[in-house]
Amino acid sequence: MRSTQIRTLFTDYFTSRGHHRVPSSSLIPDDPTLLLANAGMNQFKPYFLGETIPPFPRATSVQKCARTSDIDNVGRTNRHATFFEMMGNFSFGDYFKADAIAFAWELLTEHFGLEKDRLWITVFKDDDEAETLWRRIGVPASRIQRLGMEDNYWSMGVPGPCGPCSEVNYDRGPSFGKEGGPAIDGERYVEIWNLVFMQFQRGEGDKKGNFPIIGELAGRSIDTGLGLDRLAAILQDVENVCSTDLLLPTLDTVQNLAGRPYPGEGEEKVSFQVVTEHARSIAFLIADGVLPAKDGRGYILRRLMRRAIRHARLLGISGPVLPAATTSVIGNLGGVWPELHTQTALIEQVVTAEEESFTRTLAQGTRLLNAAIGRARENRSAALPGETAFELADTYGFPLELTVEAARDAGLTVEEDRFATLLDEQRRRAKAGGKAKTVEALKKMDTYRELATDLPRTEFVGYDHLRAEAIVKGIVSGGSVVTTASEGAQVELALDRSPFYAEAGGQIGDTGTLTTGGGTVVQITDTRYGLEGFRVHTGRVLRGELSTGDQGEAAVDGDRRKGLMRSHSATHILHAVVRATLGDHARQQGSLVEPDRLRFDFAHFSALTADQLAQIEATVNAHVLDDPYVRAWYADRVDAEAAGAIALFGEKYGDTVRIVDIGDFSRELCGGTHVAHGSQVGAFRLLSESSIGSNLRRVEALTGHDALRYLDTERRLLNELSGLLGTRPAEAPDVLRKRLGTLAAAQNQLSRLRAEELRHQAERLAGQAQPAGEGRLVAQIVTGVTPDELRGLSIEVVRRVQRGPAVVVLGAEHEGRALLAAAVSSDLDQAGAEASQVLVEAARTVGGGSGGRGPIASAGGRRPNALRQALALAAQDATRLLGER
Ligand code: ALA
Repeated sequence: MRSTQIRTLFTDYFTSRGHHRVPSSSLIPDDPTLLLANAGMNQFKPYFLGETIPPFPRATSVQKCARTSDIDNVGRTNRHATFFEMMGNFSFGDYFKADAIAFAWELLTEHFGLEKDRLWITVFKDDDEAETLWRRIGVPASRIQRLGMEDNYWSMGVPGPCGPCSEVNYDRGPSFGKEGGPAIDGERYVEIWNLVFMQFQRGEGDKKGNFPIIGELAGRSIDTGLGLDRLAAILQDVENVCSTDLLLPTLDTVQNLAGRPYPGEGEEKVSFQVVTEHARSIAFLIADGVLPAKDGRGYILRRLMRRAIRHARLLGISGPVLPAATTSVIGNLGGVWPELHTQTALIEQVVTAEEESFTRTLAQGTRLLNAAIGRARENRSAALPGETAFELADTYGFPLELTVEAARDAGLTVEEDRFATLLDEQRRRAKAGGKAKTVEALKKMDTYRELATDLPRTEFVGYDHLRAEAIVKGIVSGGSVVTTASEGAQVELALDRSPFYAEAGGQIGDTGTLTTGGGTVVQITDTRYGLEGFRVHTGRVLRGELSTGDQGEAAVDGDRRKGLMRSHSATHILHAVVRATLGDHARQQGSLVEPDRLRFDFAHFSALTADQLAQIEATVNAHVLDDPYVRAWYADRVDAEAAGAIALFGEKYGDTVRIVDIGDFSRELCGGTHVAHGSQVGAFRLLSESSIGSNLRRVEALTGHDALRYLDTERRLLNELSGLLGTRPAEAPDVLRKRLGTLAAAQNQLSRLRAEELRHQAERLAGQAQPAGEGRLVAQIVTGVTPDELRGLSIEVVRRVQRGPAVVVLGAEHEGRALLAAAVSSDLDQAGAEASQVLVEAARTVGGGSGGRGPIASAGGRRPNALRQALALAAQDATRLLGER
């Protein structure tokens, strides 16, 4: 049976049994605790946890999943993959164990035609109920095994729903290993379908995978996952997943590149499978917007690419391998997963660039590795330091396996424990960045849940109205639900209906006021979702007392909201223009919509040129001036995507989605508030463009009033400048350029003249040298010099005086301070005299300190009137110095 038929059969079976068909979510999950989607249930997590009311009680999906925890098993077993499609059926507080078991059994045995005798079941060690149900359906006790937490208890690996599970395994027969059922590890009994009986909520776990159960779920639920690869291998009667129709064309491509067929066993077999299997993960990850990076999901992608390239090199494929391998993935699976086709160009660009850079890295890493091996030998050390292995891996992307292999060839080992510690530290650092919700936030959620239990969803009327009559349905103050709040209290309010937009999709929440019939006024400073569909209005009671049940008028700050609408519409226009200008890959990765101000992040490889930025800005403004219509409409999600609406990663949309069209050039799934006509954006001004990570760019822009104000400020500045220059704005740059030229020439001449003048002055001062002690002394007050000039002058003078020992002491007044400088001739210097010796007393006299070592010293003080006296003291000290000789 072809894989396309398997998917259809599965989906049809469950839709005809009341399950709502839900498309796969992106591999980038809408869950800060998770790097990549790892199970079909991920996108339903809020339904299981009761954070969101499920729009349907049953669902079915075929979900794209990535699990790199199994990366080392790829190629070494028949069944492991880093990417796979998980077919699942889900019940949200609807049916439970009995139906889940009956569905699985019927579908496998009657529709997929698996032999009943080959099916083995595992159940959780305490789950008598599950065992009874399986036996009732006809599975003999001899083919049911009980296993513990590790095998038969499932969670996402992060806080969330969990529960005991039961797995259906298929016996592939004696040629795959020895008898004994799935309890023994190996290739013979393949786990194909996991039925999870979701009942509990797990908390944060420890490193060993132990985690506390922190509560029971509101409803007992079902989450299942049937691996498409594994079922296809069985139904197509092939040994491993790389030989199913999902991967065979790619395996063929790799064989062609290697110029030889894939062997039945050995290390080469592993390499063929690694390249084949990783190519699929790579293509899917890039198609969903993951780009190679140093950490996070980008690192996972990079690791997959580098591993695939290295294994290709082991197979002797020296030239590019990833472009051809991913192209075959697109050709084979693009029919079912159209994002592969839409992102073909991006996939090719990314894999080509990464392969080129990693090929250079391999060469560089090899050089470093050889140097480290050389050092280890010199030091007669038996092991390469873990730090070296880590640096190679971290900085040069040189895989540990490769370091170990090379070390082994040189008769060395690698400190792998140290390496693991360093890696662990780095991972923890990376993870801390994306830390899940704090305890505070979790507590808050509980309060909201308490409040939301008896409340209907807030009716949002803010698309059409900025004011609405509303009833206060709930008040949270001081962390708990209260019925009244007095004047001055900080509050969070639930209203029955609300014109306030709650922060979502990058657009920040509305602010405004709530004024009750009784005259109580609440200032609303922010609006957010507490739970999905449940708006929380944060604010302070300005006047009066507020009680649950109070009625009044909720009014959004209209000017601010209009600014938000302009920015949001401008963001859509910008997104369309960026993609039209740079290419389809330049998709939105994040955005912040503030009143008349926006920030927009998108994927791109290099900095934008001034021309590109100017073109983008001009095109956005041209669209605005065309006054395109802005239309919001609702549709079934599948229809919306078919109509070409862009869904952004990490955004969750219910079944019915809102689509915002702007003219004929922009169509996005969006819940935000927008202008009624494109021209209301007013004006659009780009402020900056920068890099915010590998292959990620950010632009900031202004719209509406802020853009106009910005233009005003620029005009004012220009007017001021041209006024100062005494010219018209248009001529200002030319005039300024000329003036700067003249100024530079004048400054040049001035410094030449000044140097000349100082030389003359030095001559003159040198001529005034008087005999003193055994040598000669110059002690004079000069005028109109800077501190630097004074020091320079003292050096010039001493140079001119020196025929025999000489000391020069000069004083000057500069900007209300006294300056002193002293210099001694080179013979005094060589005899160990310090110029600072003659300034000690003098400096004290002018009220300051002296500094400098060797033949030059200077001093400064705040008493210019004492200069003459200071100079006399310095002259005495200098005479003494000269007399000592
Ligand atoms: N969520 C379950 C799994 O991934 C079905 O195994």
